Amino acid sequence: MRMSMTAETVTLSPYEKIGGADAVRRLAEAFYDVMDAPDFAALRAMHEPDLGPMREALAGFLTAWLGGPRDWITSQGGFCIMSRHAGMGITEGTRAQWMAAMRKALDQAGIAPQWADKMTQALEPISRGMLRRGPGALPA
Ligand code: HEM
Repeated sequence: MRMSMTAETVTLSPYEKIGGADAVRRLAEAFYDVMDAPDFAALRAMHEPDLGPMREALAGFLTAWLGGPRDWITSQGGFCIMSRHAGMGITEGTRAQWMAAMRKALDQAGIAPQWADKMTQALEPISRGMLRRGPGALPA
């Protein structure tokens, strides 16, 4: 039997399709640069003054989430994105700011529009799942 690898048999991960390590790094940097602008003050106030560690964490998480190397997750001894955000009291206001900052960052990082759209669509329900539960929370 002849073994061959054609374009049809190679499936690239989203990580590879958006541009790999360089693209993910640009995206994480752009995200926290955008968050530092006045429009995102409520979201910014939830974070530590030094966003350096967050830049590393977001790049590491997105790399794995997009199907790239899982080194960052391994270095954390595993990681659950939903548990990590559970106690933060995320409101619709700060959720909307996070999504708007991500959308802006995707554009600024030069992620191809079709991938920026797909990522926005995939992140939307994840961000909704992080909304504060209990009294005063929005109905699902
Ligand atoms: C829904 C709106 C969101 C808000 C308000 C929010 C807010 C935050 C805050 C305040 C932190 C830092 C916590 C700390 O300093 O201890 C954080 C960490 C983080 N967030 Fe979010 N986040 C949101 C959504 C998301 C989404 C959708 C993702 C990715 C899919 C994400 C990925 C991360 C990562 C990777 C970290 C670092 C975790 C760590 O190093 O332990 N966040 N987030």
